[in-house]
Amino acid sequence: MERWVGKVALITGASEGIGASIAEKLVQSEMKVIGCARNIDKLNKTASKINNVGPGEMYPYQCDLNEESQVLGMFQFIREKFKTLHVCVNNAAVIHDTSILEGKTEEWKHMLNVNVLAVLICSRESVKLMRESEVDDGHIINLNSVAGHRIVHKPLYGITKFALSAINQGLRVELIGAKTHIRSTQISPGFVETYLLDKVYPGQGKCDKLFSEMECLKTEDISEAVLYVLGSHPRVNVNDIIIRPTEQLE
Ligand SMILES: NC(=O)c1ccc[n+]([C@@H]2O[C@H](COP(=O)([O-])OP(=O)(O)OC[C@H]3O[C@@H](n4cnc5c(N)ncnc54)[C@H](OP(=O)(O)O)[C@@H]3O)[C@@H](O)[C@H]2O)c1
Repeated sequence: MERWVGKVALITGASEGIGASIAEKLVQSEMKVIGCARNIDKLNKTASKINNVGPGEMYPYQCDLNEESQVLGMFQFIREKFKTLHVCVNNAAVIHDTSILEGKTEEWKHMLNVNVLAVLICSRESVKLMRESEVDDGHIINLNSVAGHRIVHKPLYGITKFALSAINQGLRVELIGAKTHIRSTQISPGFVETYLLDKVYPGQGKCDKLFSEMECLKTEDISEAVLYVLGSHPRVNVNDIIIRPTEQLE
């Protein structure tokens, strides 16, 4: 990771869960990390915990990825403060309990905006800033899911994650076409010990129930994969990583 020391990374959804763990690892690798989320209090708390250890630094930035103007404002902030960007981790995602046959269009739009459109916008803006500042070895990392590789009962989340697989492949093709060495990678976890599902079904204790039934992945299992991806030699483009808990079937 030595070549990333002092370099600038953006992580979306960095206040908790997998994003916070990735932020922690990149700050430990002496990077400057802009971490965004909507809840600024939670984000500030995460940043000060991470910054207490260092040696890099996390810069909390409040941004709702559902709003393009806020995403563009975040890139303006990065451009003004850091003048460059080397790594973008598209990590944030939302889930609604919705279906094709009975779902509400508003819930679909929210999932498509955050899980798909914001990934496209952040990827475009990241590559633009990398190229403007002559960064030829940047990296875009997208947090996909096993749900992006096979559709099971609640398909909408999977539909957004399948789109992410297509984005990851499309990005690689376009980056090669643009004659840059910027790489794109997707990481697709199975169940990870975060409280993402409890946001969909509040007060039902679904996550703790799942954690008691299966040994799920820890967030650091995913952030260590990010270090592996970034630590690979620039000639190596790790395109796709699927990581399941040993006990997870599907
Ligand atoms: N946990 C799993 O089992 C699992 C499995 C496979 C894949 N994944 C993927 O891994 C990624 C991270 O999941 P996680 O489990 O770590 O989720 P999490 O613990 O719920 O964290 C989600 C993060 O995204 C932020 N976020 C949500 N909506 C946002 C918005 N509109 N604008 C900006 N930030 C927003 C949240 O902060 P705010 O709410 O404050 O905005 C939070 O920081 C997601 O892409 C998810 O699909 C997770």
